[in-house]
Amino acid sequence: MKILAIQGSPRPKASNTEILLQEFLKGTRSQGAETETIYLKDKDIHSCVGCYTCWAKTPGICIFKDDMPELLEKVRDCDILVYATPLYNFNMTALLKAFQERLLPLLDPHLVKSGDVYRHPQRYEINRKMVLISTCGFPEISHFDGLRHVFRHIERNGGVPLIGELLMPAGELLKQEGLREHIQGVLQAAYRAGVEVIRDQRVSQETESEIKKPLVAPDAMAEMANLWWDSHLVGITQGKPTQGEIEDMRLLLRGMAATFNSPAAGNLEVTIQFEVTGKQTGDWFFSIENGKCTYHEGKVESPTLTIKTPSEIWLSIANKEIDGQQAFMEGKYAATGDMSLLMRLRSLFGSQKS
Ligand SMILES: Cc1cc2nc3c(=O)[nH]c(=O)nc-3n(C[C@H](O)[C@H](O)[C@H](O)COP(=O)(O)O)c2cc1C
Repeated sequence: MKILAIQGSPRPKASNTEILLQEFLKGTRSQGAETETIYLKDKDIHSCVGCYTCWAKTPGICIFKDDMPELLEKVRDCDILVYATPLYNFNMTALLKAFQERLLPLLDPHLVKSGDVYRHPQRYEINRKMVLISTCGFPEISHFDGLRHVFRHIERNGGVPLIGELLMPAGELLKQEGLREHIQGVLQAAYRAGVEVIRDQRVSQETESEIKKPLVAPDAMAEMANLWWDSHLVGITQGKPTQGEIEDMRLLLRGMAATFNSPAAGNLEVTIQFEVTGKQTGDWFFSIENGKCTYHEGKVESPTLTIKTPSEIWLSIANKEIDGQQAFMEGKYAATGDMSLLMRLRSLFGSQKS
């Protein structure tokens, strides 16, 4: 099985879509598939100019001698064509769109009826199938509606079955260190999709759903995203976005609340106050009741547990640069109140998908 992945992100090195794609490809390789990824960002692909030379004067051959003729050969030669694209304006990126338009030489110009619509048949006999992989920024799966619709048409017009859709909303969360355990579930599903595509010739609905499922609730994700933008616009990171690392206490604490492990809490009713000094001074607290954890700014009266920490210390713990327990032993941060609650923090935050 030859898998050709067409990667359409304009930032392939920092790409969320790439993370899913490479897990998927690992899964296919585990079943003996051969894989190749083409990064469109590095390719010279002229826009189609609609001259139809590839249909009339030189059938199957485009006027442009850029990187596309070689890619057309690869497309013809593969068993599964994987389209990997971030969602841009409800659709694929311009890079991928340009690539797709230049597939025109592979079609025959005649109009042939198929079911209730006319389409262009393939110029060459094919046995190819397709997989779509995409991530988007917003937290709802409905943002992919347009892209999915387009791919349904591509499937129908080209007669190339779409055998898997790996669509992940809120894709930026894939790089959030604080959500590592949640992310693991999505990566495993992407790998499993690769296994299934080779073994069963299609990705199961269960696996697709696992990837579609929001990592955190949409409201929590939106709040975290807004905190992230604020911290980069006017906050402590001063317009220097970094990948993955958590640099803002509010984002860290909001993220913790979003990944609260409700079953581990049982009927716990507590408040946890953070009195933060150092680079990012402030007071924030968690209120835990009815199996929910909410995040608030300011001070709560008589907290069950109070954690007094420089922001740098808790951020280093969150970014796994230092060990939390050791930092406590070494007096890098202090806690007062219910110390058994301090011991439970690890199990209460971040160990299951909401
Ligand atoms: C120009 C542009 C358009 C975008 N359009 C959308 C959109 O329509 N809907 C959405 O949810 N996210 C949108 N996003 C966010 C990206 O889809 C999201 O960040 C994605 O995970 C980026 O993938 P990548 O890291 O693989 O490039 C857009 C981003 C950019 C830069």
